[in-house]
Amino acid sequence: MTDYVLVLDSGTTSTRAIAFDLHGAVAAVAQRPLTQHYPRPGWVEHDASEIRDRTLSCMHEVARKVGAANIAAIGITNQRETVVAWDRQSGEPLARAIVWQDRRTADFCTGLKEAGHEPAVQKATGLLLDPYFSATKMRWLLDNDGQVRAAARAGRLAFGTVESWLLYHLTGGAHMTDASNASRTLLLPLDAPLFDSGLCGLFGVPHDALPEVIDTYGELADTILLGTRTPIAGLAGDQQAATIGQACFAFGETKATYGTGAFVLTNKGGEVPHSDHRLLGTVLMQRGGKRTYALEGSVFVAGSLIQWLRDSLGIISSASETEALARSVADSGGVTIVPALSGLGAPHWLAQARGVIAGLSFASGRAQIARAALEAMAHQTHDLADAFAADGAGWTGLRIDGGMSANDWMAQDLADMLDIPVERPDMVETTALGAAILAAVGAGLFGSLEDAVRAMRGTVRTFEPRMSEQVRVERLQRWEKALAAV
Ligand code: G3P
Repeated sequence: MTDYVLVLDSGTTSTRAIAFDLHGAVAAVAQRPLTQHYPRPGWVEHDASEIRDRTLSCMHEVARKVGAANIAAIGITNQRETVVAWDRQSGEPLARAIVWQDRRTADFCTGLKEAGHEPAVQKATGLLLDPYFSATKMRWLLDNDGQVRAAARAGRLAFGTVESWLLYHLTGGAHMTDASNASRTLLLPLDAPLFDSGLCGLFGVPHDALPEVIDTYGELADTILLGTRTPIAGLAGDQQAATIGQACFAFGETKATYGTGAFVLTNKGGEVPHSDHRLLGTVLMQRGGKRTYALEGSVFVAGSLIQWLRDSLGIISSASETEALARSVADSGGVTIVPALSGLGAPHWLAQARGVIAGLSFASGRAQIARAALEAMAHQTHDLADAFAADGAGWTGLRIDGGMSANDWMAQDLADMLDIPVERPDMVETTALGAAILAAVGAGLFGSLEDAVRAMRGTVRTFEPRMSEQVRVERLQRWEKALAAV
C-alpha cells in the first residue's frame, strides 16, 4: 500500500484535487474551472453548488486514479473571505457566494469607518474595514436576500467560508472553520478562541449562523465519501497553506504567492501582530488551540491582470506569452499599469480606486503593455516591502510561488526591484503542497511540520538582484506618479 495525501485546493478561478506522495511528488491531478459571475461593476459572485460539485468530482477522479484505500489523509485549502450562505436542513445554498474581490459593501465599510470603529476592529481582529473581508458580505446577504433572511429567522441559516462549505458536505453536516480562515472574517479576535459576540453585533451577523472554530491540522473530521473512512487532517486558507509549503516556520520568514491576487505573509511566531502601516494581522495556523500568527500584505490583482490582457483585451493568447514579450523590448517605453481593477488592497486600501494605464504613446504596443503588466507585480510588492519595513518586519529574502511565479522574467524583476534574493521552489504549487504537509502531519504521517517539509518540498532556485540603482529609482518614480492618478 502506498500512502497519498489528497488535497482539495478550491481557488478563485478553478478548483482541483491533487494526490501527493510522501516525497512531495504529484501522483494525480484533476482540475475544473469555476464560473465567474460579474452581475454589476465591482461585484463578483460564485455558484456555491458549482464549487461543491466540481471539487467533489475532482476528488473522486483523483481517488479513482490512486485508489481510495491508498489515501491516508485529506487536506483542504481554499480562496479565503468568500462567503457562502446555506440552509442547514437541505444543505443547499441560499444565494450566490460573494467572492473576496467583491466591492459591494464599500459604503457600509465607509460608514463604519466614519463612525470611528476601525481602530478597535483592527486591534481585535488585525483587519481593516474593507469590503474584502467576510463580515460585511454576510450582512449584505441578510439585508438584501429574502431567502437568507428567512433562513436566519427560522434558525436554519449557516454562514461559512469555502472550507466550511466543503467540510459540511464531506462530513455530512459538520459546521466548522479553521482558525486561519476564521481570522479573515472580521469576527474573530486574534487572541480569542471563538467568534466574538460584540463583533457579530457591530456587523449585524447572527452568532448562531457561524461555524465552530477548530485547529488547522490534527484529527479534525472524517469523510466516508470515498467509500472508506478517510481523515480530514488539514484545513487552511490558501495563503496560510502556501506559507507552510514555503517552510516559513521561523520568525520573519516571508513568502509571496502570485495567484489571482498576490499575498505576502511574514511569520510572526506566537506574537499577536499589529501594523501601523495598513498591513493585516492574521492567524497562520492553530494546533491544540495554540496559534502562530503572520503579518500579511494583500494585493488584489496579480495573475488576474494577465488574464484580463488575454480575455478582455485579447493582446496575448496565453499567460506564458508575457515572458517573451517582456524580453523582446528593453523597457516598457514609459508605460505604467496600476492594476486597481477591483480597488487597491494593501497598503493603500482604496476600495473605489480603478485601474490606470499611463504613459501611452504611438510607440506603445503589446510588448510594452505586457512588460508594464509584469512590472506592476514588482511595483505592488515593493509598496508592501516598504510597509513591512516600516512595521519593523523588513525582508532579507523573499520566497515566491503561485502559477505566475513560473515566469522567470517576473522572478528576476522582483529580485531587482526589491534588491534582495528571491527564492522559487521548482514546484510552484506551494498552496496545495502546504495543505498536504498540514494533513500529513495532522494524520501522524510525519512527526513535525519541519520533517514533512524536508521530505516533501523539493529544490529551489534563487534569483539574485542585478539592476542598477538608477533604473530602480526611475521605475519607482514612474509608479508613484501613476499611482497618484487612480
Ligand atoms: O484572500 C484571497 C485569497 O485567498 C485568494 O487567493 O490564490 O485565488 O489568489 P488566490
